[in-house]
Amino acid sequence: MKGIVLAGGTGSRLSPLTKVTNKHLLAVYNKPMIYYPIQTLVDAGIKDILIISGKEHAGDFLTLLRSGREFGARFVYEIQEEAGGIAQALGLASDFAGDDKVAVILGDNIFEDNFSAEIDAFKNEKGARIFLKKVADPNRFGVAELDDQNKIIGIEEKPANPKSNYAVTGFYLYDNDVFKIISALNPSARGEYEITDVSNNYINKGLLKAEFVKGEWTDAGTFESLFKANSVARKIALGLDE
Ligand code: DAU
Repeated sequence: MKGIVLAGGTGSRLSPLTKVTNKHLLAVYNKPMIYYPIQTLVDAGIKDILIISGKEHAGDFLTLLRSGREFGARFVYEIQEEAGGIAQALGLASDFAGDDKVAVILGDNIFEDNFSAEIDAFKNEKGARIFLKKVADPNRFGVAELDDQNKIIGIEEKPANPKSNYAVTGFYLYDNDVFKIISALNPSARGEYEITDVSNNYINKGLLKAEFVKGEWTDAGTFESLFKANSVARKIALGLDE
């Protein structure tokens, strides 16, 4: 299994913080933001990791992260020329993945959970797994529609009228078919290649399993969520209950 950290995109919602640096290099408590998703992959046993960044500040990622030795991992780098969406960025990982399955994490997502068990189980499965978390503001995310058995029947990206309070978090396990699915995608109404369309493709084939995140989770792409990310990261770092 290969790991992929997606750190492209423009970070425009965090301007002016992102005028002279990249969102994923901003501080979250005591570390640069991108350290958290990298550590989530490494803690789950994934050591071969591709880091995909935008074209601006790409050199800063290399300066900061280097070979990956500091993390006990091996890093390679790829550039997404324009912010065409999360699925477009993931499509750039096709050569790196070879025939392997992939564990994909968004560069602005901070998790408390350790995913080793889920990744080990997924090694013997086909299809995809995603991870859901109950949130107060689901319309900001991909939102899962669940049936009365808590089985996922669809995902809507940033719906005006969410069908549940369960956000799709930015950690995804896909088998190697993901690259075929991405190459057949069309851009959404907002002009992006959507990861939600990729996951819905697996749902329609009955090949996607959704699990629930147990610990804290947040993204960090808005001022409010970046603020929350700082307190979540502090809580985890200091082992606090609240
Ligand atoms: O955080 C979870 C949410 O992330 C999911 O619930 C949504 O389904 C998913 O679409 C995404 O929504 P966001 O609106 O938060 O996505 P954002 O544009 O902020 O991008 C999140 C990360 O994805 C970003 O930190 C880097 C990466 N990315 C994004 C884009 C648009 C790329 O690598 N390339 C891109 O072109």
